[in-house]
Amino acid sequence: MDLGLQGKKALITAASSGLGKAIATELVREGCSVTIASRNVDALEKAAEEMRSIRSNAEVLIHHVNVADVESVRQLVKTTNDKWGRIDLLITNAGGPPPGGFDQMTDDDWHRAFELNLLSVVRLIRETLPLMRKNKYGRILNVSSMSVKEPISNLILSNSIRAGVVGMLKTLAAEVAKEGILIHNLAPGRIATDRIVQLDKASADRLGLSMEKVRENQEAAIPIGRYGNPNEFAKVAVFLLSEANTYMTGETTMVDGGSLRSVY
Ligand SMILES: NC(=O)c1ccc[n+]([C@@H]2O[C@H](COP(=O)([O-])OP(=O)(O)OC[C@H]3O[C@@H](n4cnc5c(N)ncnc54)[C@H](OP(=O)(O)O)[C@@H]3O)[C@@H](O)[C@H]2O)c1
Repeated sequence: MDLGLQGKKALITAASSGLGKAIATELVREGCSVTIASRNVDALEKAAEEMRSIRSNAEVLIHHVNVADVESVRQLVKTTNDKWGRIDLLITNAGGPPPGGFDQMTDDDWHRAFELNLLSVVRLIRETLPLMRKNKYGRILNVSSMSVKEPISNLILSNSIRAGVVGMLKTLAAEVAKEGILIHNLAPGRIATDRIVQLDKASADRLGLSMEKVRENQEAAIPIGRYGNPNEFAKVAVFLLSEANTYMTGETTMVDGGSLRSVY
């Protein structure tokens, strides 16, 4: 299948590691130019080198961003657009909020999670949408979580804030659909990245279990029987971002090895 991604310009945040990096890598493989952005510039440099080794003429730009900071987001989108004159694909991604339950979270924790995981998506889209509207073309993909369909225990911030993002993007998808702009939420279940190590460690500490036992228990609950690999997640993202997808928008798609037990 021709995915029609050759020459497309993509901006991916939180792309120095994990799921963001995996999506950027697969887009480079398909012939896209990418800007990868996050806070750690050394890690971005390293990731960019790996991506350039896939294709000798791959255009991989790096940019510092803290997605929770409005000015930082503005600069990122402006610099990327100054360089390319357009942004075809926007992947909104950020680090996850800290684990914990209701009693542990202060107003500051709630505000920080709102800035990091909801307002960052609003701001990135607000800056990029006019560029997509001008070209009557755009694909926006938000990295979400399985928790938007089935809340995960001890992750009250993620469970709450990400549900708001789904509502916002569903609404926006209908507003911009006739302008050639399609929007998706892609929801990982348990894909093996640093974030999953962080969450497994929190569970191990909380339950008094070894990390190995926590992983064994988690994998036993996944019908496919194992954690996913970042590139398995990224390949679905690439399809949704591609020209092969012309009729799906506003959806939340799970990449969870069959973990979600409900039919919707
Ligand atoms: N992996 C899974 O199975 C899974 C499941 C459910 C939800 N998620 C969610 O999916 C997202 C990505 O997860 P992941 O597994 O790829 O995590 P990860 O491996 O820990 O990577 C997180 C990325 O976010 C960047 N980042 C963190 N805070 C940032 C900020 N304020 N501004 C810009 N970049 C920032 C980090 O780079 P720098 O340190 O360089 O900034 C890093 O590149 C997270 O929100 C996570 O909670 C993941």
